[in-house]
Amino acid sequence: MQHVQEKMVQVAGVRKTFGRRVVLRNVSFEFSAGKIVGLVGPNGAGKTTIMKSLLGFMPTDTGTVQILGQPVSVSMHTVVTRQVGALIERPAIYPFLSGWQHLQLTAASTAQMDWVVKALQMTAYIYRPATRYSLGMKQKLGIALALVTQPRLVILDEPMNGLDPQSVKQLRDLLLQLAHEGTTFLVSSHILGELEKIIDQVILIDQGQVLLQQTIAQLHQSAQAFLVISTTANERARRLLRSAGYSVTQREDQLIVPASAAVTPLLKIVLDAGIQILKVSQQREDLETALLRMLANEGE
Ligand SMILES: Nc1ncnc2c1ncn2[C@@H]1O[C@H](COP(=O)(O)OP(=O)(O)O)[C@@H](O)[C@H]1O
Ligand SMILES: [Mg+2]
Repeated sequence: MQHVQEKMVQVAGVRKTFGRRVVLRNVSFEFSAGKIVGLVGPNGAGKTTIMKSLLGFMPTDTGTVQILGQPVSVSMHTVVTRQVGALIERPAIYPFLSGWQHLQLTAASTAQMDWVVKALQMTAYIYRPATRYSLGMKQKLGIALALVTQPRLVILDEPMNGLDPQSVKQLRDLLLQLAHEGTTFLVSSHILGELEKIIDQVILIDQGQVLLQQTIAQLHQSAQAFLVISTTANERARRLLRSAGYSVTQREDQLIVPASAAVTPLLKIVLDAGIQILKVSQQREDLETALLRMLANEGE
């Protein structure tokens, strides 16, 4: 499985300014072939600018970008971009062409077009003029155009935007399937939750800086677990546990204790005070919460 270890993308020290405005500051990251990588950050963080730099769509001030070990720049992007499919921001739609005709402009064969139309379930409207497409249909056409040639690297900029939940699910399944077959994906979103089910790695950016690059497995490990307890007298139970040295917080009608606490002695304290326990469960913080907490700790 040598190709799996191959570096698909290497970005090193990229800086980008628009006039006086610094939009990317020393951006560096890399990832291997066969992965789905999430580029996550708030609006204006620089996700689209990073993707455009990767494709050689715009000059950068300093730094290098390589795809499959080959340098990419505005003047040298022909060799590699043949192996890259991309949807950046909105798809470019020609008003008088049908979806099918759009695909014809890009695809190498009818078989590729048939495959992508079926995979994205666009059969019902693919021959209609694209100008009459809904936002979601246009978005799907843009995704189809990025995928149709079955490139080795696919860059999708906020691809879930405008898609209904069913289409989001379809797209997730399709990306997982293609990644399993060896395609590498860089997918951006301002919502981690949108991507966390499919990505292998997350690159978190804010204000033009890479704040963190982690595997999803690492992120899952750092997500903290809690015991969530509700009793017939939460306020009194909280005071008892506090004075016994537990770190307890109260949220609505629940008491929350880090899951590292031993359960039996903790419950015994509550029961011995004549308080009934209504419910005990274990919960884990979601990845977005874990990320934000880690960033807040780093900033301290
Ligand atoms: N052509 C441009 N001229 C000036 N500023 C730009 C240009 N393109 C993007 N920016 C600015 O760069 C920053 C990052 O933009 P962008 O990469 O589109 O962020 P994101 O995709 O994460 O929302 C934003 O503050 C945006 O206003
Ligand atoms: Mg963007």
